[in-house]
Amino acid sequence: MKTNPVLFNPLLQGKASYKGGKTINDIALPEEIQLYKLSSNENPIGPSPKAIEALNKVLPNLHIYPDRTDIRFREKLRDFYGKTMSVDHFLCSNSGVALLEMISRAFLQEGNEIIISNPAFGPYEMFALKQGAKVIDIPLMEPDFSLDADGILDAITENTRLIYVTNPNNPTGTYIPQDDIDYLVEHLPDHVILVYDEVYFHFADAEDFSLAMPYVLADKNVIAVNSFAKSYGLAGLRMGYGYAKPEIMNYMRNIQRPFFINIAGMEAAMAALDDKEHISATVKMVQTQKEKIYSCLEQIGAKYWRSQSNFILIKPPVSESQFEQDMLQYGLMVRPVANFGAPGCIRISIGNDAATDALIKALNQVYAKYT
Ligand SMILES: Cc1ncc(COP(=O)(O)O)c(C=O)c1O
Repeated sequence: MKTNPVLFNPLLQGKASYKGGKTINDIALPEEIQLYKLSSNENPIGPSPKAIEALNKVLPNLHIYPDRTDIRFREKLRDFYGKTMSVDHFLCSNSGVALLEMISRAFLQEGNEIIISNPAFGPYEMFALKQGAKVIDIPLMEPDFSLDADGILDAITENTRLIYVTNPNNPTGTYIPQDDIDYLVEHLPDHVILVYDEVYFHFADAEDFSLAMPYVLADKNVIAVNSFAKSYGLAGLRMGYGYAKPEIMNYMRNIQRPFFINIAGMEAAMAALDDKEHISATVKMVQTQKEKIYSCLEQIGAKYWRSQSNFILIKPPVSESQFEQDMLQYGLMVRPVANFGAPGCIRISIGNDAATDALIKALNQVYAKYT
């Protein structure tokens, strides 16, 4: 139906509406089939027990308004990063995507441009389109999805405001070596900010992987994006944060809503930050399961990319929708990622032991059908 463009903003319709992956409530399977959700990169061991304890403590106080600001959370983050940054470097948000949305609102107006490198996380584009900005894609390069840093620098115009890099990347699981980021940051003009999405950083173990922190400490135009939905296992609470030089973050505070931070999310996230054991158990579990899945993928001759994250991208021998359906017959929810710029590919999150066993069984059977 055609809507009145005076009343309904055309920028908020059409391509600008991104839907996340399916939830288990979207799936109808016979009862005897055990369902494994390997489609949203969630934590296979669940939330931190310390976060649950903190949540239980706040539950009787849900009728009380939360803190007026996120300062307690920012103090915690300052300590977490070894006091190398100040509280002014941090900004808390109601999830990683909420921070991405704030960045777009803060820095993009009609006529501006952003640069992304597909395959990439869909919301970068969605939020830019909502602001009326133009999206320039400088794709990651075959065969290993490496960053085309020169291509990105050549694409910068006077209208460019934001460049997005994701390290490790979703949906490819690949990472950008520090030299490439150094090169990009070194050549960044003053009117451009590098949005450095590091929500999967705990899983990266490559020697030349770098956080955004050194660039922020060097006062560069870099904003780090972080989430509590992945390694911290708090996807349902919608918590995230960013860090950048105070000039950027203090400006962004202007678009924070009053009482934006919910007390349950904040207390649980602060407790999760302290729970180093939970993080190391999560990372260990992911590494162990990943190795088992690599062996299976090698054995069945699958096309896949080695991952620095908690998921693996594969290119199955059939269409992604057929493969998704086939895997579901074995109770496995996996994610087609054509809308992330990876047509024909499927992203599989790393689960626990039982999920890996089910996955290996399903992969063997489904590949046997087509190869
Ligand atoms: C690369 C990337 N950035 C940001 C996010 C957003 O995280 P959140 O769930 O906290 O909104 C995700 C979530 O999948 C992601 O993959």
